[in-house]
Amino acid sequence: MSTLFDQTRIGSLELKNRFVRSATYDALADAEGKVTENQINFYTKLANGGVGLILTGITNVIPSGKITMDHNSIHSDDYVQGLKQLTTSVHQKGAKIAVQLFHAGKDRAGLLKALNITDEKALAPSFLNNDTEYNEYYRSMTENDILKIIQAFGDAAVRAKEAGFDAVQIHGAHSYLFSQFLSPLTNQRIDNWGGSLENRLRIHHETLKDIKEKVGEDYPVLIKFGIYDGLPGGLKFSEGKKAAQYLAEFGFDAIEVSNGLRGDDYEESEFKAKIDCPEREAYFRNYCREIKSLVNIPVLMVGGLRSFELINDIIKKKDADYVSLCRPFIREPDIVNRWESGNSRKSKCISCNKCIDDIVMQGKQLCCAIIDD
Ligand SMILES: Cc1cc2nc3c(=O)[nH]c(=O)nc-3n(C[C@H](O)[C@H](O)[C@H](O)COP(=O)(O)O)c2cc1C
Repeated sequence: MSTLFDQTRIGSLELKNRFVRSATYDALADAEGKVTENQINFYTKLANGGVGLILTGITNVIPSGKITMDHNSIHSDDYVQGLKQLTTSVHQKGAKIAVQLFHAGKDRAGLLKALNITDEKALAPSFLNNDTEYNEYYRSMTENDILKIIQAFGDAAVRAKEAGFDAVQIHGAHSYLFSQFLSPLTNQRIDNWGGSLENRLRIHHETLKDIKEKVGEDYPVLIKFGIYDGLPGGLKFSEGKKAAQYLAEFGFDAIEVSNGLRGDDYEESEFKAKIDCPEREAYFRNYCREIKSLVNIPVLMVGGLRSFELINDIIKKKDADYVSLCRPFIREPDIVNRWESGNSRKSKCISCNKCIDDIVMQGKQLCCAIIDD
């Protein structure tokens, strides 16, 4: 008997099924990072398609965190009204929505370079002086920079709650700020924010504390978490799983398991390509299973989930509590309704990654690049 369509909760957040749309940058915001009508339509269609919880794309909490010109922001009160229209429309279709709070850290250097901005530097845990391309465009953070960013996450969560979001998710994965702090490759600080695992996780803990103090203990705070790096010398899973245990102890309400720093190609990243056979699917399943056995908070599995039978098996075997999908929803926003209606054909998404390479990376609004039906 499937429990995929059972009602469940993440803390105070009630969900109608176990399907999550994982955070997806859609290049639909305007040049200031504000919500657009196109974006409201995009999210409304998604909510109408049956998914229980939608995680927005990266939404920066302070201008120093921005990485492209067309992702959303929540760094001032001016953004609340547009976001409220978006959450209202999603709620009217019966889905819940959480905003993914984001800071790019060092990765903002790419945008500064592209725009030839030389009077601002991207903020990194450490200046490594090993990156000839970006050396001029980033610097090591002072403790004041760190404290300012932590407070910006807390303030952003207040705005998120006011805008009607049901929860927030901290982006603690991929190559961005929180992964940069956790990775021994990119964090070489010798103060309280570097060195031991506890120190490299201090920003995660302090950010959670600031958010909960400002929005209340009951407001759900999720984290997408990179449990290993795809680069030699980076975070190993043996340390990543210990880190996941700490996050549960700190009081995060749920953890979505992904990778930390990306390697050189898609195979060493969160979006592996060519998921064309069952063996290529669910590429974080083994990590998820182990983390689920170690923590007492809900675990979301993301990465290459394409077949209904496999997804059902993941939930039945309790390898995760929720299943989180990105690329399948780009191809078929109503895939959950289809599966619920009994049509269990696998996702039409072939994981070609053209939605990344040919669409959003080219400044185009998110869509499937090869829809042929
Ligand atoms: C176009 C695109 C945009 C993405 N944007 C985000 C994002 O804003 N935040 C995030 O955490 N992950 C982002 N991801 C990664 C997905 O959330 C997900 O972790 C990854 O694609 C694996 O899941 P999938 O196999 O279901 O696509 C993005 C992926 C794609 C393809």
